[in-house]
Amino acid sequence: MASIFCPPDPIAVDPACYADGDSYPYDENSDSGTSSLDSLVVTHILENGRRYHGFRAGRYLLPNDKPEQERLDLLHHILRQVFTDTYTAPLSTLKPLRRILDLGTGTGRWAIDTAYAYPSATVMGIDLSPIQPSWVPSNCSFEIDDLESPWTVAPGSVDYIHARGLSGSIREWPALLAQAHAALRHGGCVEVTEVVAEMAPVGEVGREYELLLAAAHERAGRRLGVAEEVPGWLTEAGFVNVAERRGRMPVGKWPLLPAMKELGKLYKEVVLAGLEARAVAPLTRYLGWSKEEVEVLVGNLRREVGERGAQRCGRVVSWVAWKA
Ligand SMILES: C[S@@+](CC[C@H](N)C(=O)[O-])C[C@H]1O[C@@H](n2cnc3c(N)ncnc32)[C@H](O)[C@@H]1O
Repeated sequence: MASIFCPPDPIAVDPACYADGDSYPYDENSDSGTSSLDSLVVTHILENGRRYHGFRAGRYLLPNDKPEQERLDLLHHILRQVFTDTYTAPLSTLKPLRRILDLGTGTGRWAIDTAYAYPSATVMGIDLSPIQPSWVPSNCSFEIDDLESPWTVAPGSVDYIHARGLSGSIREWPALLAQAHAALRHGGCVEVTEVVAEMAPVGEVGREYELLLAAAHERAGRRLGVAEEVPGWLTEAGFVNVAERRGRMPVGKWPLLPAMKELGKLYKEVVLAGLEARAVAPLTRYLGWSKEEVEVLVGNLRREVGERGAQRCGRVVSWVAWKA
């Protein structure tokens, strides 16, 4: 189905907007949670007021605490609207559809929705962080594992693999996609979805922020901004018929169309909540910044994002490719 969030039509601007009053969308102390100290020590790391995964610590640079989980869930909701579905792969043509993997499942929202939608399939979500709910459909399960280690799934045993939001996490994309290709059966498919621009255009502070993040991820050996290389890597891994879909998310309530305006309001929350989440570990761990310096940068960027008149959009791309 066509989506108003997919190009090429320009987004009509509502001149009566630009009255956004931002408020920081989460309670900084909500992280205290109900976890016992023991489980927190074993499974998570607390750093600069945020919580990070403890298994294979340091691999992933974003937090895994409640505010970040809420940000991921909101983005999941937004992306379903942008692509008018939970998938960009044509699942009605994928038969049989018995075994599904979700790489870097995060809170598991996508995996749970998919398990409900396909009750005769089994869906397994894999992540470094144990942040998935325990009450899930019986055909859904989660495994805490590192995608960059050799996979234990039997070759040729999977029908469909989903990977979303892994940019900046993966050292060797070709190796990851080669493992996905080996795990799939002939005729199976992989879907890779990435937000390729959080927001554009960016102002002066936004440009500085992006350069710093890119430099820190480069030092970490997990480059950002590699998503546009995915189609080439898919082909190199042996996939065929690579198809691409693009979508966009307005940042704020500037669009005229009510559906766009609503989506823009939500996506702006995602962008604002992501400013600190995306920066604090990269800049403190790899560029020697203090938490306070990060806070100043993030504060300046929040002001820039809140400026009236900028019709900013985020861009998302999804690729589907097949194992011949
Ligand atoms: C931006 S989040 C996306 C979550 C989910 N796919 C979504 O779209 O809502 C990236 C997720 O990938 C996980 N991740 C990153 N590197 C990983 C690795 N090497 N092995 C397993 N999971 C990883 C992170 O822990 C995080 O939950």
